[in-house]
Amino acid sequence: MVLITRGKEIVPEVLKDLVAFEREHGSGGFDKWLLPVFSNFGLLYVMREGGDLVGTAQLMRVWERPDAICVAGIAVRKDRRGEGLGTLLMSHILKDLKRDGFNEVRLTVSPENTAAMKIYCDKMGFKKRGMEKDFYGEGEDRLVLVKQLKEVTGE
Ligand SMILES: CC(C)(COP(=O)(O)OP(=O)(O)OC[C@H]1O[C@@H](n2cnc3c(N)ncnc32)[C@H](O)[C@@H]1OP(=O)(O)O)[C@@H](O)C(=O)NCCC(=O)NCCS
Repeated sequence: MVLITRGKEIVPEVLKDLVAFEREHGSGGFDKWLLPVFSNFGLLYVMREGGDLVGTAQLMRVWERPDAICVAGIAVRKDRRGEGLGTLLMSHILKDLKRDGFNEVRLTVSPENTAAMKIYCDKMGFKKRGMEKDFYGEGEDRLVLVKQLKEVTGE
């Protein structure tokens, strides 16, 4: 059974595993310096199956829009991709955030990231807001996607 937890349920000891997970299965950007910041002042999600870490996500508030959240990162274990876990995690996050009272979710994605684009645009209904040129440095453009949480239904 897949279990998704977030926030204070993620004890500090788990952070070491998350750093290793991120290095192996994520973009690598969430390291031992950044993850504790997100854990304490942002929001972390952890997805486990049978005790194994299978996915994670990092969230932060949007400075100029207090009712908006940015999903800064999301990753699924390499050997568990394509099974619907990324979709499950994102859909769980959107429902949680709606329940929390937030109105909007923002994120950036490489337009070439087919799996992520499929989840965000095709399955979750994120809309394209524009392209941020050189977002992560020269040649690293990112598409900005936005989802209005009033469109999210179900428990
Ligand atoms: C993006 C990511 C989280 C998706 O997780 P996942 O568990 O594989 O996602 P899902 O299985 O729920 O859905 C992925 C969808 O993309 C499709 N897909 C995956 N790779 C694809 C490809 N190369 N071409 C076309 N479709 C692809 C899958 O078939 C699936 O669609 P389907 O359910 O209609 O078959 C995962 O690939 C990942 O961790 N990537 C590395 C980190 C990353 O890029 N994060 C996103 C940053 S914005």
